[in-house]
Amino acid sequence: MPIISTSILSANFTCLKEEIERIRNTDMLHIDVMDGIFVPNLTFGQVIVKTTKNILRDLNLKILSDVHLMLVNPHEHIKEFYELGADSITFHYEAYRNIEKCNKTIKFIKNFGIKAGIAINPETYLPEEELNILLTEGKPDILLIMGVHPGYSGQKFINEVFEKIKNIKKIVDECNSAKNLDIKVAVDGGVKFWNVDKIIENGADIVVMGSEIFEGNPDENILKIKNK
Ligand code: DX5
Ligand code: ZN
Repeated sequence: MPIISTSILSANFTCLKEEIERIRNTDMLHIDVMDGIFVPNLTFGQVIVKTTKNILRDLNLKILSDVHLMLVNPHEHIKEFYELGADSITFHYEAYRNIEKCNKTIKFIKNFGIKAGIAINPETYLPEEELNILLTEGKPDILLIMGVHPGYSGQKFINEVFEKIKNIKKIVDECNSAKNLDIKVAVDGGVKFWNVDKIIENGADIVVMGSEIFEGNPDENILKIKNK
C-alpha cells in the first residue's frame, strides 16, 4: 500500500480547515514552500505550517506534516520549520549541488529527531557513485524524485522520470540492504490516476499528489489510491 502525501498547494485556502477535513485519510500533508528564487513561484511559509498544524490538532487528526523546501538556502530555515511542527523536511540537492553539504543538511534535520528528505529535479541524474555516498553516508529517510520541474501544481508528468524511478529504486534497495537502512522513494509532481500505478510499480513508496486529489471528492480519491 503506498503512503500518500497530499499537497495542499491545490487546496482552497479560503476554507483550509474544511479542505484538510476532506483529506482526513491522507498519511501526510505535503506543504510546498517556495521562495520565488529557487523556483519561479512564491507560495507560503511558516504561517501555513503553523496554521495547518493547529488545524490538525483541532480536528484531532494524526497526519504528518511533510515540508518541501524549494528555497535557495534551505539549511537556514530548517530549525524554524522544525519548531513549528514539521515531521519531515525535504530540501533540494540542487540548492547545494554538493554531496557533502547535502549530507550535512540531512544530518542537521535528523538531529532534531524528524525525518529528512532530499529531492532531485527531473534533469538531475546523479552518478551512481555520488548517489551511493548520499544514501549510505547521508542516510536520508526519503529520496524524493520530482516528476515535474518544481514550481507549480497541475503540471504534466515528465515521461522520462518513469525510468529514472526504476533505476533509482534499484540503487536505494541495494543501499538499504547493504547498510540496513530504510530509505523510502517518493515521487512528487504530475502524479495522477492515469500514471500512479506505474509510478508505484516502478518503485515509489510515497506518492505526493495535489491537483488530482482535490478534483472531485478528495477523501474518496485518497482511498482509491490507498487501496492499490
Ligand atoms: C511542485 C510541487 C508539488 C505539487 C504537486 O513544485 O512540489 O508538490 O504541489 O501538485 P500536482 O500533484 O498537482 O502536480
Ligand atoms: Zn512538493
